[in-house]
Amino acid sequence: MNIAVFASGRGSNFTALAAAARKGRLKARIALLVCDVPRAGVLARARAAGIPAVVIDPKRCAGRADFERKIIGQLKRHAIGLIALAGFMRMLSPAFVRQYKNRILNIHPALLPAFKGKDAIGDAFAYGVKVTGVTVHFVDELMDHGPVILQQPVAVSPKDTRASLEVKIHRLEHRLYPQAVRLIVDKKVRVRGRKVVSARPFSG
Ligand code: GRF
Repeated sequence: MNIAVFASGRGSNFTALAAAARKGRLKARIALLVCDVPRAGVLARARAAGIPAVVIDPKRCAGRADFERKIIGQLKRHAIGLIALAGFMRMLSPAFVRQYKNRILNIHPALLPAFKGKDAIGDAFAYGVKVTGVTVHFVDELMDHGPVILQQPVAVSPKDTRASLEVKIHRLEHRLYPQAVRLIVDKKVRVRGRKVVSARPFSG
């Protein structure tokens, strides 16, 4: 299976997925990086990993439909079967999500449905929660909303700063995202309504 990672920024999750695939922990290839920010750090990571990258700059597109048409062209060209959003700071249209139904994953740095949005780590820290975490979920038409594939907690200690919490969250993300992608690649789970359940419910 060919996987495309969509990212807009730093790209540490891109690197974690690429490393998992390279080490044979995924029966899949990270075949493409799709990036919407011309000078994003993730582009250097793709170059270093030898993974093809395309920059599709929305400012150079005639609206969202054109932007997504260009992305879909690249996905077809690289025979992409699964999309992993990893810090991709843009909502995909309902039409795009429908076209790739249950084939788009996202990672979010909080325990959804708590702390949706762009600064989940900062928001959770400011709120004073004692536990936050990481969620990997399928993408649907709403932001940070689709069925949850994996979720794990991170304790917030009294000594934590926002920065130290961020380090803990990212460390967990880099383990959890490859695990979640592996469940999908190996067809171990399926979606039933809002629930992600075992693909073989009677096998224990
Ligand atoms: C991660 O915290 C992810 O959960 C969120 O965006 C961040 C991307 O980080 N969606 P990186 O670019 O993978 O380092």
